[in-house]
Amino acid sequence: MILCAAGDIHGGLDRMYAGVLAFEAALGVRVDWVLHVGDFGVWPDPARVDGATRRHEGAGDFPTWFAERRAAPRPTVFIKGNHEDFVWLDAQPSSEVLPGLHYLRNGGVHELVVGEEVLRVGGVGGCFGPSNFGRRASTLQGYAKRHYTRDEIEALSEASNLAIVLTHGAPAGVRFDRHRRGEGFVSEAAGLDELLARTRPRVCFFGHDHTRVDAEIAGVPCVGLNKGHYPGCLVAFEMKLGERAWRVLGEWPPKPSSG
Ligand SMILES: [Fe+2]
Repeated sequence: MILCAAGDIHGGLDRMYAGVLAFEAALGVRVDWVLHVGDFGVWPDPARVDGATRRHEGAGDFPTWFAERRAAPRPTVFIKGNHEDFVWLDAQPSSEVLPGLHYLRNGGVHELVVGEEVLRVGGVGGCFGPSNFGRRASTLQGYAKRHYTRDEIEALSEASNLAIVLTHGAPAGVRFDRHRRGEGFVSEAAGLDELLARTRPRVCFFGHDHTRVDAEIAGVPCVGLNKGHYPGCLVAFEMKLGERAWRVLGEWPPKPSSG
């Protein structure tokens, strides 16, 4: 199946799907599933956005999409980032929050189905917070829900046969040449590295750091995605049932030429 991983969009749904469709046209393929690594910008009620979101992008397109019950133009699964309406997400009776748009809860597995093929995707969204990591997820309230917890990692570690793992933060050990926390910054997002060591997916995608980066943690290729509409915010790949090998088809949008 043809999959397209997408970085943080902070409510830019129209722009992301326009990018996916332009990318498809450039590649001459149709994407079966979009996999989003969090900070999707789920704010059904724009009055509830958090402070950082208010200062930066604002609520984005989600309120409009939600009011109109718009369908995702391509089946999409997303995990949470650290800027969403977590209380609303947790309260949803169905994982399909809009037609074709599926929320993958922390520690959960979503099965991507295309014809006879099924690929299993696990997810741990949110970011690392040392003070909340050891608490039980069920005890986190409100804004604290932006953090993932050890029990969520444990839950997903029991899952078998995961083809793909989505995390919001970079698993511990991923190094960034350039980073807002300094050159050569190494991620300290504890637990995500252990998760990869225990579940051994074919690939892990992450976002949050807004940088297109490649790494390998516990023998698992890790692909960091850029944000929004910047080069490397979308990576398309082909993966087949029962074959560990997979291949990248391309990245989008193209880097502007320096000439
Ligand atoms: Fe984030």
